[in-house]
Amino acid sequence: MTDLAGLHARAAETLDITEPWVRRAFEAVPRHEFVPGSVWVVDGGVYRPLRRADDPERWARMVYDPAQAIATQVDDGAPAPVGGDVPTSSISAPAAVVTMLAELDLRPGHRVLEIGAGTGYNAALLAERAGAERVTTLEVDPDVADGARAALHRTGYGGVRVLEADGEQGWRSGAPYDRLVATASVTSIPGAWVEQVRPGGLILAPFRTAFCSHGLARLTVSEGRAEGRAEGRFAGAVTFMAVRGQRARPRIDAVFSTEAWEESREGKADLDIVALADPHAEFAAGLRLADVAHWPQDGGHWWCSRDSWAYATDGTVHQWGPRDLADETAEALAWWKGAGRPELFDFGLTATADGHHRVWLGDPSAAWPLRAA
Ligand SMILES: C[S@@+](CC[C@H](N)C(=O)[O-])C[C@H]1O[C@@H](n2cnc3c(N)ncnc32)[C@H](O)[C@@H]1O
Repeated sequence: MTDLAGLHARAAETLDITEPWVRRAFEAVPRHEFVPGSVWVVDGGVYRPLRRADDPERWARMVYDPAQAIATQVDDGAPAPVGGDVPTSSISAPAAVVTMLAELDLRPGHRVLEIGAGTGYNAALLAERAGAERVTTLEVDPDVADGARAALHRTGYGGVRVLEADGEQGWRSGAPYDRLVATASVTSIPGAWVEQVRPGGLILAPFRTAFCSHGLARLTVSEGRAEGRAEGRFAGAVTFMAVRGQRARPRIDAVFSTEAWEESREGKADLDIVALADPHAEFAAGLRLADVAHWPQDGGHWWCSRDSWAYATDGTVHQWGPRDLADETAEALAWWKGAGRPELFDFGLTATADGHHRVWLGDPSAAWPLRAA
């Protein structure tokens, strides 16, 4: 018989949660009640179903592994047993969930809007603190929303409002909210979020660029004359799947071909690969090259934008298209070093109700991008 209670207790111990209400909520909510009996695991490079009934021990260990996010839907609902490529809904890893909740400064009685109901698990944790009737959670996928609603009812959190809606629009009729927490990542903060959170309230959202997928934006909505604006620093590093409307990234297959390889400009790579492996450097470079995708592969590095690509390995670089993406990265890294190797926490974001944002380093009034001295 699988010892779910024992696994739950051990996870709480390992996580060593310092915020008392988050710890109490984590201990109170049975995470296993929110995880479907069939989930998706990577097997041979594709996602394949893992059924609780077939391997209850493995399923339970995954559920209470502090570092494990579990894919609960792939390819926007591809039916099992077909393999899938891209996870499109998941229950986030406990470590990421508790990190975000600790940053949310949620108080009893706060009205909170969650973007991305997923399994409903995080909404239950929010309900433990704010009260179920104060929690609204939006889910773009109708089947996923149904699953969250059912799980919340089953576990005694039926007062949480689960709505099938595009979270980028927020939910105007429930506004103003004291807190808005996104559990899917964005490349820009939707204006509706800034509008629907009260002055002095908080927006907590995983922020990504095409270059780099981590960065937890923690923005306070301004009061008084600066109304219509939310501002704050990045509070940590978390990686979440993108909101449905902001998934697009440049694709290498749209620009790369064997002919393009033949035509590419070959040169000596003047790139500090070691620095690029530093998550703070990668984050900073990503803020400057927000439209450029980058990934390491087989000992080399690839970049691509809408119209260019680059590949670097063993001191040699190939670049193709109007932009020299490896050179741009080298410049961004040189800037980062020149700026004193700032950490992710030194950067911040100002977002406005008209949907624009601006990143800054140290001081919100600083012009961006800062030029190397
Ligand atoms: C990482 S999961 C959320 C985990 C969830 N909070 C939990 O506790 O299980 C991200 C969810 O965001 C949803 N999503 C993506 N884009 C969305 C959008 N525009 N509006 C609402 N939900 C969205 C996905 O369908 C997915 O279920």
